[in-house]
Amino acid sequence: MFLDHGHRVAGSHRGTGVPAGVFGVEADITNRAQVVQALKDVADHHGPVETLIVNAGITDDDLLLRMDEEKIRRVLETNAIGPMIAVKEALRPLLRSKDGSIVLVSSASARYGVPGQANYTAAKGALEGFARTVAKEYASKGIRCNVVAPGGTATDMTSALTEDQRQTMLNDVPLGRLARPEEIASVIYWVSQSTYMTGVTVPVTGGAVLGY
Ligand SMILES: NC(=O)c1ccc[n+]([C@@H]2O[C@H](COP(=O)([O-])OP(=O)(O)OC[C@H]3O[C@@H](n4cnc5c(N)ncnc54)[C@H](OP(=O)(O)O)[C@@H]3O)[C@@H](O)[C@H]2O)c1
Repeated sequence: MFLDHGHRVAGSHRGTGVPAGVFGVEADITNRAQVVQALKDVADHHGPVETLIVNAGITDDDLLLRMDEEKIRRVLETNAIGPMIAVKEALRPLLRSKDGSIVLVSSASARYGVPGQANYTAAKGALEGFARTVAKEYASKGIRCNVVAPGGTATDMTSALTEDQRQTMLNDVPLGRLARPEEIASVIYWVSQSTYMTGVTVPVTGGAVLGY
């Protein structure tokens, strides 16, 4: 999407590589040193970051009674704490651009509440509160910070669902299907470029969540 619109794009990965035309850097979102190095490598190659998209996320579901502390910590580290530190580390270059844009990827699950996802919904909810505050702290410096909250999307994350789980999820979706990844990407792109929107969480859920 960003390449199609003529942007210089860098992408982080954990050994899987990046698509053609994207400058790849390796970083685990839970490793601050790797994130700092990745931002530096991107700045050396492309110049300071102007738009930051934080998309990394994991689920590790269980009912809360059975959910061990490690599952809670790991899901919060990946979905909330790592992204917050990545935003903090990217702030100085974004400030220099005077027109910086941050988009964080949450989940409509944070709004619904989903049995088995206490860790994940808590982490994504934290991310949304964080974005609202970053938006207010840095609006006067020309930085916008928004969130895109997808509903069920056809990616590796949902491919492990049983047919029953998938149908239960779709029962709440008026459009009656999962999103295609490119349908989420196009909203992320649009939100990143919208010049009069900040602190907002945009649901992309096929009608399952109608407003925030
Ligand atoms: N699929 C859905 O139904 C759905 C719904 C709502 C929200 N979301 C959110 O959408 C985002 C993308 O998820 P997806 O559906 O594309 O899931 P996915 O196919 O499982 O991809 C998750 C992505 O996060 C990366 N990641 C995981 N842990 C990481 C870490 N410690 N450091 C750096 N990167 C890490 C993965 O990198 P590797 O390739 O290296 O593992 C992968 O690129 C996530 O934030 C997810 O919570 C998804």
